[in-house]
Amino acid sequence: MLMNSTVKPGKPLRGTITIPGDKSISHRAALFAALAKGESLVENFLVSGVTNAMLHALSLLGIPYSLTGTTLRIKGNGIRGFQTPKNTIHCGNSATTMRILTGALAASGVPAVLDGSDGLRRRPMLRVVQPLQQMGVAITASAEGGAPLRLEGRPVGMLLTPLHYNLPVASAQVKTCLLLASLAASAPSVVSEPLLSRDHSERLLSAMGVKIEQKFSGRAHSVRITPPPNEALEPIHAVIPGDFSAAAFLIVASLIVPGSHILIQNVGLNPTRTGLLDALLEMGANIQIHNVQTLSGEPVGNIEVRHSPLKGIDVSGERVVSMIDEFPIFAVAAAFAHGVTTVTGAEELRYKESDRIGDLCREFKKVGIVIHENPDGFIIESNGNVPGNGIVQPYADHRLAMSMMVMGLASKKPITVQDVQIISESFPDFLSILQSLGADVLD
Ligand code: S3P
Repeated sequence: MLMNSTVKPGKPLRGTITIPGDKSISHRAALFAALAKGESLVENFLVSGVTNAMLHALSLLGIPYSLTGTTLRIKGNGIRGFQTPKNTIHCGNSATTMRILTGALAASGVPAVLDGSDGLRRRPMLRVVQPLQQMGVAITASAEGGAPLRLEGRPVGMLLTPLHYNLPVASAQVKTCLLLASLAASAPSVVSEPLLSRDHSERLLSAMGVKIEQKFSGRAHSVRITPPPNEALEPIHAVIPGDFSAAAFLIVASLIVPGSHILIQNVGLNPTRTGLLDALLEMGANIQIHNVQTLSGEPVGNIEVRHSPLKGIDVSGERVVSMIDEFPIFAVAAAFAHGVTTVTGAEELRYKESDRIGDLCREFKKVGIVIHENPDGFIIESNGNVPGNGIVQPYADHRLAMSMMVMGLASKKPITVQDVQIISESFPDFLSILQSLGADVLD
């Protein structure tokens, strides 16, 4: 992919598309299959920078796999089946790889060092390290509380201390890390979160034979996990739904480009992920959902989108968690909406691939958007137009890069986005899909 892309306002987007497999579920399917005894088959696996980081890590741990197109066959040898890695496990830019793999490594008992890119080194890791230490895992982070993470080995036959832990902030990565470590505890563990974060791990672990019991108390959610008696998950045949978080860019693109009408097929519609849909509908979007079915334990359906006039709304609380990855593209929708959009209670956005409050506000201002930064969110004021005519920087954040490219499709003047090669971390087909719908993107 090119280093810089200039996107010009132009033709309506039209057509029927499918998008690649879900990033979160692909990560989990590969890792959980590595903890099963026997061969698992995963179809529609996302092939991308971040999922390659996971596969590379698994090969360092002695897990055999083959990837043909998007079909992954992977052979696990149980929870304690990893080999001691000969080298540092490099997780690239992938916080999901680092955090959830750390939980699996804690369960496996093999010593390992996990490291990553400069961007990944800046991500907070104490949120997994501290509860793992409570379980008796010998693990340390850097002096800054990030990568590299160092795990010491654990003797065969020694189990971890069961965990009873309340996550201070809802996080599916931390929850998954702790659930995986709990597979090697001497008794059931309970992991609670103040709001339900994406529940793909709960669904997949249940499908792979692990006893998972969930409770809701008000908006809080807790998961009780019982370690499997034979120290292994059951192998699985999973078909991964299309990634809603990737579809989100095309949904908003079609809403803001006049005359657009697209259909996106087989998209994951897990309600813990689709907060953006509710937000866009409240803004007046013309979006219809068709043919909802269940695929490998996850709801999927087709999303039909037509260009729509949008109005500003307020987003806070529970909705923040169910659209946590969608704020950059939501901010684009808000920039084309009439009125004021306010985001509050979203401080977590500062700890993603970029600071998705500070960096986003800085870059949006460069193309004439009126945006005010707050500690826990931002406010956008718009008359429905974005002037454009600027060069913007995504700070090595794939979602910021895609969002700002989408913005250029409907701004008054073109927008140049730098360093767009980062997009291949999560959505290598983004540019070709956008062009297949009629978008005007130049180098
Ligand atoms: C993810 C969870 C979210 C999300 C990330 C993927 C996952 O992070 O932002 O892109 O696959 O579990 P947090 O759990 O830290 O909120």
